[in-house]
Amino acid sequence: MYTDQNTNRKIIIAIDGFSSCGKSTFAKAIARRLGYIFIDTGAMYRAVTFYALEHGAIRSGMVDEDAVVRLLPEICIDFRFNPERGASDIYVNGDRVEGKIRTIEVSNCVSAVSSIGAVRSKLVAMQQEMGRKRGIVMDGRDIGTTVFPDAELKIFMTADPAVRAQRRYDELTAKGEQVSYDEILQNVLSRDKADMERAISPLRRADDAVVLDNSRMTVEEQLSWFDREFRRVTAR
Ligand code: DC
Repeated sequence: MYTDQNTNRKIIIAIDGFSSCGKSTFAKAIARRLGYIFIDTGAMYRAVTFYALEHGAIRSGMVDEDAVVRLLPEICIDFRFNPERGASDIYVNGDRVEGKIRTIEVSNCVSAVSSIGAVRSKLVAMQQEMGRKRGIVMDGRDIGTTVFPDAELKIFMTADPAVRAQRRYDELTAKGEQVSYDEILQNVLSRDKADMERAISPLRRADDAVVLDNSRMTVEEQLSWFDREFRRVTAR
């Protein structure tokens, strides 16, 4: 196991990639290995979307951008460690929303909400503040390109869309949600498109990012791969 004690230097690890690639699972595992803070920025965009749904800024799947922007000043997001899960839960204005932000309803609207410039500016500023002391693993779509262009290690994750849809389907059905595989696959494909075609901070691989295609890799194999990459950048 390689910790920052090997180098006495805390770095920023930026993980970007397509939806349902297992970014959070991977990022959480390496943060635990290193004793770093883990931040799931997708959860932040989901939390804003959830709040907008709850407060009438999204009706029948239609996102009213001006209404979302008007809500922004009243949205306060924070993460609090939950010892039961061994991970942080996300809170909005003091309410734990962790379980409520991963529904298909939120998934269907989150791309539209995350394409709003004012939403991105607010969340990017929060994310940069969280990484000020380094020692952080952050996953999202624009971490290596926009949030921390100076991150020491940038990883771009990808996997076959069918594999990703199956993973999300298994996750949701295990929680008892009534969803169809086709609906999930459509959601995965449309979010890929929306993420890549968004005008502000579209999803793209940073020039200095290393690619991890985990379609056929176990989590353990991904962690071995990570150890090599971590050694490579911290040995410099
Ligand atoms: O990682 P996720 O699927 O939970 O992310 C939810 C959505 O948030 C995703 O469709 C794109 C958006 N997102 C983003 O635009 N920028 C980020 N840094 C993280 C997520």
